[in-house]
Amino acid sequence: MTPTEDATYVFPHRHLLGLKDYSKEDILHVLDHTDNFLEILNRPIPKIPTLRDKTIVNLFYENSTRTRISFEMAQKRMGADVVNFSSSASSVSKGESLKDTIRNIESMKIDMVVVRHPSPGAPHFISRCVDAAILNAGDGAHEHPTQALLDMFSMRQRLGRLAGLKVVIIGDITHSRVVRSNIIGLTRLGAEVMLCGPRTMMPLFVEELGVRVSYNLEECLEWCDVAMALRIQLERQEGALFPSTREYHERFGIKKRHLREFPNFTIMHPGPINRGVELESEVADHPRAIILNQVTNGLAVRMAALYLLSGGKRG
Ligand code: NCD
Repeated sequence: MTPTEDATYVFPHRHLLGLKDYSKEDILHVLDHTDNFLEILNRPIPKIPTLRDKTIVNLFYENSTRTRISFEMAQKRMGADVVNFSSSASSVSKGESLKDTIRNIESMKIDMVVVRHPSPGAPHFISRCVDAAILNAGDGAHEHPTQALLDMFSMRQRLGRLAGLKVVIIGDITHSRVVRSNIIGLTRLGAEVMLCGPRTMMPLFVEELGVRVSYNLEECLEWCDVAMALRIQLERQEGALFPSTREYHERFGIKKRHLREFPNFTIMHPGPINRGVELESEVADHPRAIILNQVTNGLAVRMAALYLLSGGKRG
């Protein structure tokens, strides 16, 4: 029985700060609701009035294309009043603190805040300053829970299951919030996770999170059902962690020849892709890549999360 079918299950959260706080049942509950919202998105008029009495602020202190558009579109599809804030065009550049900014915004009677911030823990801090429901859209190299939820949903959609699934995550493990949220979610749902990348980008003792580590890409591609490539996070690195992007591509990039040599694995990437670095261009566009499905599913996952955190009433 899934939590959604279990009449005694009550979704226990007010915020989505990280998957660390979400049990297996909570994660499955969000994924099951995502199925419903995906169906709504495929209707001729893909709109529902669920959030028509809600005001949501999207607070982005860091650049974003997919995540910001996806959250905003999810909110608009559900009829919310939406306000967008970006730090570069605000009083933050005049020296206002995060706490003052958020308390001023809350005085305008908002219900939910979606926040992306370069400092790990910023969404948690905000959740202690205001009453609104807080959704983390990425905090530094810490967590990116809606990305991991959409990744897990996309794997389940393509491969039919998560329990027992073999997933390799390749790239800049140290600086990736996507990997951290995926490790938590995937291991809770019974998937096997392997990490692969240059030693300089592999955190010490990462095996303690219940994952395996390999430095051999071919060995991983032979083993896995899913290969998720991550962007090299040049903006979060202090010194050079690998000699050149050409050498990185040589050792850790997924190439066309890998698709022939290992005929089973599905390709994923959270975006933005550096073509010719993490993935050879033809690999990114190959039918075995579900990168654009991930983007579509991201919209439905965010609708599900907003719905559940707004109290779960279908207006
Ligand atoms: C990721 C992010 O911002 O953490 N992208 C995303 O949200 N789609 C990954 C990245 O920036 O490489």
